[in-house]
Amino acid sequence: MNLVLTGSTSGIGWETLLALLPQFDRVFLPVRNISKAERLFQSLDKKEKIVLIPMDLSVLAEVKKGAEIILSQTEQIHVLINNAGGMYPGGKRSKEGIDLSFATNHLGHFLLVQELLPALIKGKARVIQVSSEAHRIALHPGKDFSLKKSSNTVAAYALVKLYNILFTKQLVNNYSSEGLNSYALHPGAVRTAFGSEASTWAKGLIAFTKLFFISPKAGAATSIFLATAPEKYLKNGYYYKNKKLSSTSTLAKDAKLAQALWNFSLEEIDRVLGNANPDKKGENVGIL
Ligand SMILES: NC(=O)c1ccc[n+]([C@@H]2O[C@H](COP(=O)([O-])OP(=O)(O)OC[C@H]3O[C@@H](n4cnc5c(N)ncnc54)[C@H](OP(=O)(O)O)[C@@H]3O)[C@@H](O)[C@H]2O)c1
Repeated sequence: MNLVLTGSTSGIGWETLLALLPQFDRVFLPVRNISKAERLFQSLDKKEKIVLIPMDLSVLAEVKKGAEIILSQTEQIHVLINNAGGMYPGGKRSKEGIDLSFATNHLGHFLLVQELLPALIKGKARVIQVSSEAHRIALHPGKDFSLKKSSNTVAAYALVKLYNILFTKQLVNNYSSEGLNSYALHPGAVRTAFGSEASTWAKGLIAFTKLFFISPKAGAATSIFLATAPEKYLKNGYYYKNKKLSSTSTLAKDAKLAQALWNFSLEEIDRVLGNANPDKKGENVGIL
């Protein structure tokens, strides 16, 4: 069994790794800071199962290259946990000029899934998105899917966490017939490095509220549950909290929005990487 886990070098991802490493044969870890990862993973039992993949998820060219490395080493992936993410100052751009919240929390992972699809389908994989209850305060993006206009840190974060759920739904819509399962989750309010790259006021607010947060170990529980629970206990395409099925906002149930986000994401990748992607189940429904 093979696992791919993003954001394993801190917080929820690190605890997810500690719990899942003994249960998988090979564990591919896309990381943006290889020396940090090497230092951290040095002391781990079973570290020989780990394959580090250099990948800044906000840089599409790096995601594509990293996915190629994974595919060169395995034909099957059984679990992919899209956990990396965070809150970034509104309006901050990636190296490729994309809004950093959109690129890191959504588009990088969207591309990772597109590139790994052959191995995910072969492994009849579970693709798990670490979303957030913050999705509930997201407003409809209108035509501004990639946050070209928005410059509000919290609004941007809420929107991209909504995208995690819409992506989950569309992935199931497109690929459940080929054996793919996908789930989204809220980990809880967790005491991690979350927010360390946010704007100064958001950082201050998070630092104060962290006093009331749960431990990273408790925050990893729902990710671990979704990665390992027998399939008969899980509902494909749904959102979980505290290891239980949970409701979502009305916007997160909007099938047209999910399809439009999918189409936009494919177009954005083509625009940035400058290559024509073969049809990846996009439909010409236009952008809402
Ligand atoms: N903490 C909470 O209360 C909370 C609540 C709801 C949802 N979440 C979600 O939970 C997930 C994990 O967050 P966390 O709380 O564990 O935060 P964290 O401690 O800051 O960990 C974030 C992880 O993502 C990695 N990462 C960030 N940007 C990246 C990039 N551009 N490329 C590659 N890796 C990148 C970080 O790598 P480095 O080690 O290199 O920084 C780190 O491993 C996030 O998606 C977050 O939105 C958290």
